Order: sequence, then structure tokens, then C-alpha cells
Amino acid sequence: MYVCICNALNDRELADAARAEARSVADVFRRCGRRPQCGKCLPDIAEMIEEARRLESGSVIAAE
Ligand code: FES
Repeated sequence: MYVCICNALNDRELADAARAEARSVADVFRRCGRRPQCGKCLPDIAEMIEEARRLESGSVIAAE
């Protein structure tokens, strides 16, 4: 699913970039080789970074 329409970036590409030690939305765009344009996707990407951090820290408990 496309998250960033302006740059045709899908959720998988963005999540991979977020997990690659991205510390900010700008880092995610840099890793994808793109720049933000309209900004509509920025909250979703920020959420992906937070999710990647939670997974990194092990604070997510898998639901059974
Ligand atoms: S949707 Fe991502 S910059 Fe416009």
C-alpha cells in the first residue's frame, strides 16, 4: 500500500527504511532517496519510526 503518494513509496519500503536506524522522518526519506513534498504522509512515517523503536527495544509483547 502506498503511504507516500507524492514519492510512490509503499509501506514496506518505508518500514524497512524506518527499521534501518532512522531517527527522523527526514532520515527515512534520505534512505529512500526521496524528499517530502506535500507532507501528508509525515505522521504515518513518524509512527513507523516509533514502531521500529518499540520493536528494537523489545517493548512490544507478541499477542498470542
Ligand atoms: S504523500 Fe508523502 S510527501 Fe506527499
